[in-house]
Amino acid sequence: MAGTSSTERGSWNSKLGFILAAAGSAVGLGNIWAFPTKVATEGGGAYLLVYLVCTFLIGFPVMVAELAIGRKSGKNPVGAFKSLSSNKFFPLVGLWGVICGVMILSFYTVIAGWAFGYAFEEIFFYFGWDAGANWLTDTSNGFRNAIIAAVFMIGTIKIIVGGVSDGIEKATKTMMPLLIGIIIIMIGYVMTQPGATEGVREYLLPDFSKITTGLIFSAMGQAFFSLSLGMGALITYGSYLNKKENIPQAAAMVTLADVGIAFLAGLLIIPAMYVAKNAGIEIFVGDQLASSTDLVFQILPALFHSIGGAAGLILGVVFFLLLSIAALTSTISLLEVPVSFVIDEYKVPRKKASWGVGLGVLVVSTIVAFNTSLIGTFDYIFSNLGLPIGGLLTCIFVAFVWKTDSAITEMEYGFAGIRQTLFSKVWPMFIYVICPLAILYNIITNFI
Ligand code: TRP
Repeated sequence: MAGTSSTERGSWNSKLGFILAAAGSAVGLGNIWAFPTKVATEGGGAYLLVYLVCTFLIGFPVMVAELAIGRKSGKNPVGAFKSLSSNKFFPLVGLWGVICGVMILSFYTVIAGWAFGYAFEEIFFYFGWDAGANWLTDTSNGFRNAIIAAVFMIGTIKIIVGGVSDGIEKATKTMMPLLIGIIIIMIGYVMTQPGATEGVREYLLPDFSKITTGLIFSAMGQAFFSLSLGMGALITYGSYLNKKENIPQAAAMVTLADVGIAFLAGLLIIPAMYVAKNAGIEIFVGDQLASSTDLVFQILPALFHSIGGAAGLILGVVFFLLLSIAALTSTISLLEVPVSFVIDEYKVPRKKASWGVGLGVLVVSTIVAFNTSLIGTFDYIFSNLGLPIGGLLTCIFVAFVWKTDSAITEMEYGFAGIRQTLFSKVWPMFIYVICPLAILYNIITNFI
């Protein structure tokens, strides 16, 4: 990608490189922190089911649309909408995406800071340094939150300054399989503990009576958030994509990687909650969770501590470091959107744009660090509501302004026989009708 002082655009090193970067953007705190928490608080198996439907039937088609827009235009979201039509409204959709990205990033870094802090907490706990361990685990300590969020943000800025491809591609290539490995080991451990089967049942057997408009709205927002959709991150990543790549296939691989890791995280954390409950740890007050924002950060350390010894220490440290890297490959994609916007539209050099935007976001992060109740509010406005609205308008743009046929023509590069496939008949129907109506219906019913 573009070097330090130029405004030139670059591209991914290889096909795998792009998939790794987009999967790195998708897999993050959304999978391991947000998804299990929402499953636990909002309907167990029913939530999982609706989430899967939203991911495949709404998320995947929108992802293909974003990538096609990005590659055709070779631009940031605002520039992309400008360059594909003369319509004056749609660049504002790109701008809305930039704003959602900035606001999501502001709370995301605070939670990423929790994950990073817990890697050290495991070490302090092992050596019995209680004061340090307690300081690190106090997620209500604004000062602590602000410091670690700042460290995280500065790390993100530094990577973005250097151009993202090498770093993300390498980090993701090792992180993803290791993360999957550790989660599977932990699932194996949890399953041997008393109480786990109650959690598995809660997770895998949907209680259909729990499917409400509120649940569907939340699961749809979660699907967008987890796939990094609806704010132009994949328009931006698509803009660095080589013409030889097969867009639908790349989107399918990213979607499967993302869903797979979210599913495994749920299979670990929901049973682990019931194991904790069985062991007398208070995680429920009545049938409400005692804490929703930092649930995962209470359950997982309890699990590592119960494994104990060197095994508990190593698993704990490696897990939280991997989670931090997963969060980092996501914050990179969140910051890359406003940065590429500033570079393309205002011709600011990459280095200046990265520090300027990054430090601006850090100001908002600091406010969130001291007022963690803002996390829920921001998540609701900018993820649950903001991203599906962005996705809806993206569909409308592709269907009625740019036209799905132009998108298919763009996809023919890298997928020569696409017009003979079922995909080329079905995908436009999703973009014209199914996705926009489903998104609109869910938003409206949620408010009625
Ligand atoms: N998908 C990431 C996660 O699940 C978060 C994320 C990265 C994101 N880039 C995004 C969310 C763009 C929305 C839009 O943790």
